[in-house]
Amino acid sequence: MLTQRTWSVRTRLTLIAVAVAVLAGLVLTVAATLSLYSLADVYQARQTGDVVLKTIELTVHGNPPAELREESLVGIQVLDPAGRVVSSTPGLRGAPRMAEFTPPPGSVRSSMETCSIPRFSGRCVVVVAFRIHRPDGDWIIYSAADVVPWYVHPGLFTVIVGTYLLLVVLAGLGVYHTATRVLAPVNAIRDELAEITATDLGRRVPVPPAWDEIRRLALTINATLDRLEAAVEQQRRFASDASHDLRSPLTAMRAQVEEALHYPQDTDWKGKAREMLTSLDRLQAIVSDLLMLARLDSGAPAARGPVDLRDLCEEELGRRRRRVEVVRELEPGVTVAGNRLQLTRLLTNLLDNAERHAASRITVSLAAREGTAVLEVLDDGAGIARDQREVVFHRFARLDASRNRDAGGTGLGLPIAREIAQAHGGTLTLEDSAQGARFVLRLPLNR
Ligand SMILES: Nc1ncnc2c1ncn2[C@@H]1O[C@H](COP(=O)(O)OP(=O)(O)O)[C@@H](O)[C@H]1O
Ligand SMILES: [Mg+2]
Repeated sequence: MLTQRTWSVRTRLTLIAVAVAVLAGLVLTVAATLSLYSLADVYQARQTGDVVLKTIELTVHGNPPAELREESLVGIQVLDPAGRVVSSTPGLRGAPRMAEFTPPPGSVRSSMETCSIPRFSGRCVVVVAFRIHRPDGDWIIYSAADVVPWYVHPGLFTVIVGTYLLLVVLAGLGVYHTATRVLAPVNAIRDELAEITATDLGRRVPVPPAWDEIRRLALTINATLDRLEAAVEQQRRFASDASHDLRSPLTAMRAQVEEALHYPQDTDWKGKAREMLTSLDRLQAIVSDLLMLARLDSGAPAARGPVDLRDLCEEELGRRRRRVEVVRELEPGVTVAGNRLQLTRLLTNLLDNAERHAASRITVSLAAREGTAVLEVLDDGAGIARDQREVVFHRFARLDASRNRDAGGTGLGLPIAREIAQAHGGTLTLEDSAQGARFVLRLPLNR
């Protein structure tokens, strides 16, 4: 059975329209019939008055003829003071007086509705009685006219009801067709969406031309699909880059093992083990960076606490001797709320990169500016071309110069560093400098 819940929007709209049309039409039909009825009634009364006036005149000025020539009314009778019918219209010839009532004393006119006059065989009429004062006594004139029925006239009533029903049908059909047309794009969008899967995210739902809610819905869906497609594409590239980077050290290790097994006698096993350790280190570095990124991507909250950035820098710089000179310009008391391990990881990567690319010196500076901690790591190396400044933050991106300089990098350090900065509500950017690369980390101060 159909329940309210399973009715389509179109059915519901149509039913509402029909219900409204039925109610409104009913009110209009009743109002129209009532006003027509009262108009017809007033008209009928005036007509009767006009017709009877002639008979009244005849009666006032003398005795009226026995037969009254008046066909437009159902009937007229004139009664003398003794109550005898002295004249009547042809249809009432020989009939007894049609009514017993007379206008009450002092009044000249009164009326009554009746359906029981035998001569009219069941026809309902309004009988109006007039009192004429004459020297020989009061004469009475009865006139009978058809009662106006509530529906006024069968033909007229049929037209009114017919128009009413036609309007109801038109309202229903109109809303049904409009709803069908308006909802067609929604169905098209649904059909398209139902077919889109993770492998064909390039498809888009049709956008209707009219500027309405449905068009906005379609545009929003398409924008969402754009973002989904970009995200899926990024994941796909990431997975393929990761596999590629993991495969290289594995292939190297496999070749080493195969060669050693082939010539066991000629093999320097200790040397081989050391070579393989290098490959294992690289594998380990990649896997731990991947894990770190996965954890940052998942948005899992890390423990937070106040971290004094100067302490952190001193600690990190004091860990080991650097290949180049390190200049420190560190303001004291610059504290942020954050995860110490993650911030250390960020700083290590910036310092290691700088050390790797510096010619002779790294400058690390720290200051608090307008509620923000600003930490800069500057080196005096070749720097990074302006058009590569965003590229180095892409996952697995390594500029050609670095590949030659150091084969051990993963290309994940800067993306991880930026994710950490963003997880702390801050930013990590590459900015202009006279020489070398200048990385600037901005974090909100701990208050
Ligand atoms: N201080 C720097 N000077 C010049 N190039 C840099 C510097 N820091 C990073 N880069 C470039 O950005 C790339 C990405 O850095 P990173 O994500 O840390 O990866 P990795 O250090 O493993 O190569 C590096 O390979 C290098 O080409
Ligand atoms: Mg690095």
